[in-house]
Amino acid sequence: MSPPVNLAPIFRLEGEVRVPGDKSISHRALILGALARGRTYLGGLAPGEDVAHTASCLEACGVFIRIHGDGRAMVEGNGPDHALRAPSDRLDCGNSGSTMRMLAGAIAGHPITACLQGDPSLMRRPMRRIAAPLQQMGAAVRLGPEGTAPMTVEGRRPLRAISFEPPVASAQVKTAVLLAGLFADGPTTVLEPAPTRDHTERILALCGIEVVTGEGRVTVTPGALQPFGLRIPGDISSAAFFLCLAAAREGWRVRCPEVGLNPGRDGVTEVLRAMGASVDVLEREPAGGVEPVGDVEVRGGPLHGIRIEGALVPRLIDELPVIAVLATQAVGVTEIRDAAELRAKESDRIAHLAEGLRRMGAACETLPDGLVIEGPTRLVPAAVDAAGDHRLAMAFAVAGCLAAGPGLTHIAGAESVAISYPGFFEDLNQLSSV
Ligand code: S3P
Repeated sequence: MSPPVNLAPIFRLEGEVRVPGDKSISHRALILGALARGRTYLGGLAPGEDVAHTASCLEACGVFIRIHGDGRAMVEGNGPDHALRAPSDRLDCGNSGSTMRMLAGAIAGHPITACLQGDPSLMRRPMRRIAAPLQQMGAAVRLGPEGTAPMTVEGRRPLRAISFEPPVASAQVKTAVLLAGLFADGPTTVLEPAPTRDHTERILALCGIEVVTGEGRVTVTPGALQPFGLRIPGDISSAAFFLCLAAAREGWRVRCPEVGLNPGRDGVTEVLRAMGASVDVLEREPAGGVEPVGDVEVRGGPLHGIRIEGALVPRLIDELPVIAVLATQAVGVTEIRDAAELRAKESDRIAHLAEGLRRMGAACETLPDGLVIEGPTRLVPAAVDAAGDHRLAMAFAVAGCLAAGPGLTHIAGAESVAISYPGFFEDLNQLSSV
């Protein structure tokens, strides 16, 4: 175990931070590049451990990938017939649910067997949501008795085309089914309970695949994927930590250039505006012509509590921990509902977040599907546990910056930021020490 990170309160936040490339898009770009025939060129690939796991799993399936230190990458796809070969060992997905779930979908469409496993956090996460549709399509998928990994996928081709309604709004489940659908005997449809990020659909279109979306459904028609070029924009989920921190105090300001603004991901900008911060977005040229991009600038203002629920939740699911931190600084009650999925992430984010925030003096109540936070509170430095969860580590870092009083905020498990944002603490330091 690494020692906890100690954070001092900050007195000013001002400047610009270029956040690393989008993690969600990076996973998909690597996988779809691997399924195409020929060379796919990427820029801005996410630098964290999660995406490195997707790359190494694809390499273990016979895909040639070259990743440069500056975010450029090249994927040499073997073409649809033999895109993925049987790995000689178990595939290690690390902490990455996206790697495990999306790869399971791609593997299901190949006549190979692969066993996917991960770290203790990933081995606790629900996988029946992936196994069920892939089994319906004709793949053999075996899980542990609790419906968790290790997950053995025995693929076949062609799979059966299906129409599937996932029990939860999940872009990972949607993606797994769409990837399997590329190798089915007809068009495959996913009916979404609520709209989720549609990166897969957009990159599939870039690969020349027919994808029809609308009225809560998305249908993919099997076809040969063309390789593509894509400059991946900054990750709004990483930018969210700085945007929320800037929002917390009048006079603070941060600008994050060139972040992805996929309509399934931009809920945080809506929430910041609704709470009273000033949010300016300067639209940029879409990445690859398909992914919306913009420069986002946030200035702090007097904040008030709001209610976050329903279809907004999937659009900011990964940002809820830092939004909850911000809610401690807003006047009145912030209620987060319909977010039971938070309990099935890298950790039980509802329980661990509430525990840490209470230690720092916040008034925070848990619900089965969310949190109720009453503000404003003067946070105090304390020892908190991120439970090895990268987004909690960064959310607690934001709380630590906002704390006042003697001492430092000690974050155990802070090394987990390397999962999505290895340079997080350096960037935070640079913004707050001007
Ligand atoms: C992701 C989808 C979300 C999100 C995760 C990344 C994706 O998970 O929480 O961090 O890239 O598709 P679910 O699909 O489980 O909601």
